[in-house]
Amino acid sequence: MAEAAAEKLVCVTGAGGFIGSWLVKELLQRGYVVRGTARDPEDPKNAHLLALDGAQERLSLYHADVLDYMSLRRAFSLCDGVFHVASPVSNDPNWYCYAKMVAEKTAMEEASKRGIQLLIVVPPGTIGRMLQPTLNLSLSIVATYMKGTKKAYSNAVGAYVDVRDVALAHILVFEDVSTHGRYLCIGHMLHQSEFLQMMRDLFPQYPITTKCKDENKPLIKPYKFSTQRLNALGMKFTTLKESLYNTVVSLQENGHIPVLLHKSSL
Ligand SMILES: NC(=O)c1ccc[n+]([C@@H]2O[C@H](COP(=O)([O-])OP(=O)(O)OC[C@H]3O[C@@H](n4cnc5c(N)ncnc54)[C@H](OP(=O)(O)O)[C@@H]3O)[C@@H](O)[C@H]2O)c1
Repeated sequence: MAEAAAEKLVCVTGAGGFIGSWLVKELLQRGYVVRGTARDPEDPKNAHLLALDGAQERLSLYHADVLDYMSLRRAFSLCDGVFHVASPVSNDPNWYCYAKMVAEKTAMEEASKRGIQLLIVVPPGTIGRMLQPTLNLSLSIVATYMKGTKKAYSNAVGAYVDVRDVALAHILVFEDVSTHGRYLCIGHMLHQSEFLQMMRDLFPQYPITTKCKDENKPLIKPYKFSTQRLNALGMKFTTLKESLYNTVVSLQENGHIPVLLHKSSL
């Protein structure tokens, strides 16, 4: 058990979700005592949390809704730290980005007024192995490409990171006493066409589209983000190929996409 983590009580909101589940798993593995929140802790979709290593001894589930102040207060009471992961997630990019921006700005203002140390981890499209049985938005997008329901891709670039790296980034910034401010947690940046090509190379048996929505225009060029602040804390990002492979295998294992065999394995 890590010295720093021993007997520390932390809360993870949205514990049963894609990122929340990995954060709970990694915290338990490091010896933290964890309170996970869910709107309905009894819902079978959260049962996987109780099967994690260390959960029987050090995980408790609390009811909390982000719109219910008292429920959050109860969950955070006496905690040494809170990992706030819960959020309604919308597939309307305007609504989602606006909500995220307002939430972050408000959190910064309130933390500064109350003298609370606030650290912000900013992940892009998060993929990787799912621990939870239900499908979150980022993995549902991968699933629509794998099933061939998405008939064309946008002429756009995308940034990606592995879910396990997102969980580790949260713990790295929490444990280092010198951390402050925002931490970009961006593993890879590439054009949609390259992302889908990688999927086709790994899983050629799936009907992944090759059609771009604006075929006649030049492809948008990827831009760069600096992850120097996380790298300085020891962060090493998982390769995109490994994350994509784990994503697809876990979509298969959880029955979200059919298992298609490659010709060579028939
Ligand atoms: N996945 C990505 O690509 C990605 C990228 C960047 C940032 N993020 C952010 O990372 C966080 C987790 O995303 P995720 O992909 O893990 O999504 P997820 O699996 O859908 O998890 C979202 C969690 O939020 C909880 N939640 C939703 N509405 C709530 C409410 N009103 N009160 C309390 N809890 C509520 C849900 O819990 P219950 O339904 O059990 O209550 C769920 O556990 C979100 O803040 C998301 O915006 C995700």
